[in-house]
Amino acid sequence: MSLLNAIKLDLRANTYSKKAAIVVVMYRIANHIALSRSAVIRILGYPILKIYQVFIVWLWGIDIPYFTKIGVGLNLGHGGAVVVNSDTVIGDRVLLRQFTTIGNKGLNMSGSPVIGNDVEIGANCVLIGDITIGNNVIIGAGSVVTKSIPADSVAYGNPLKITGRTVFGGSKPAHHKRARNMQMVTGNLVA
Ligand SMILES: CC(C)(COP(=O)(O)OP(=O)(O)OC[C@H]1O[C@@H](n2cnc3c(N)ncnc32)[C@H](O)[C@@H]1OP(=O)(O)O)[C@@H](O)C(=O)NCCC(=O)NCCS
Repeated sequence: MSLLNAIKLDLRANTYSKKAAIVVVMYRIANHIALSRSAVIRILGYPILKIYQVFIVWLWGIDIPYFTKIGVGLNLGHGGAVVVNSDTVIGDRVLLRQFTTIGNKGLNMSGSPVIGNDVEIGANCVLIGDITIGNNVIIGAGSVVTKSIPADSVAYGNPLKITGRTVFGGSKPAHHKRARNMQMVTGNLVA
């Protein structure tokens, strides 16, 4: 997918907050530059990487390294602070709410999560370690996730409870309606 199309999908996913939209577009451009095979693009784009580092990471506290592999349609909700380890892999149409941390269990202690498509992560969550979050998963607010979650599940709490989505009759967040619409136009980045 071209950078322009990826940005269009990112913008479509972040209509709620202009700050979130700016962050995701800046991430997408910085990620494109950082992972480019062209030395010319990497050299010319170097100032943009520094701008991203200072304004998005340092000043706004949204610590998503530009090397991190994230699929299209990333939704940052309110655009609040999050921390994501650069080894993390995030699929398409993921909602990452404020005050969430995704990373390893400590320096050189483990890998970082691999997150599928159409995953919704509640506010104030911690996901750590070499775990896999399947497609179409909802993780409740305030959850601590240290083990893998199968596809089509709802998981919540600390200690984590994992349940099939059909057990829950309650919330069907708006993000998922948008996500389903966006599935029509995006491909999977994460197998
Ligand atoms: C996980 C979630 C999607 C479930 O929503 P739901 O289907 O409406 O679930 P219910 O409210 O029917 O709750 C079902 C049970 O799970 C519990 N539960 C729900 N969410 C929970 C959470 N985040 N942590 C701990 N327990 C939770 C409820 O207390 C209830 O327990 P009970 O059966 O013992 O009474 C939702 O609660 C949630 O956490 N969403 C995240 C939203 C968010 O981050 N909002 C921030 C907006 S900026």
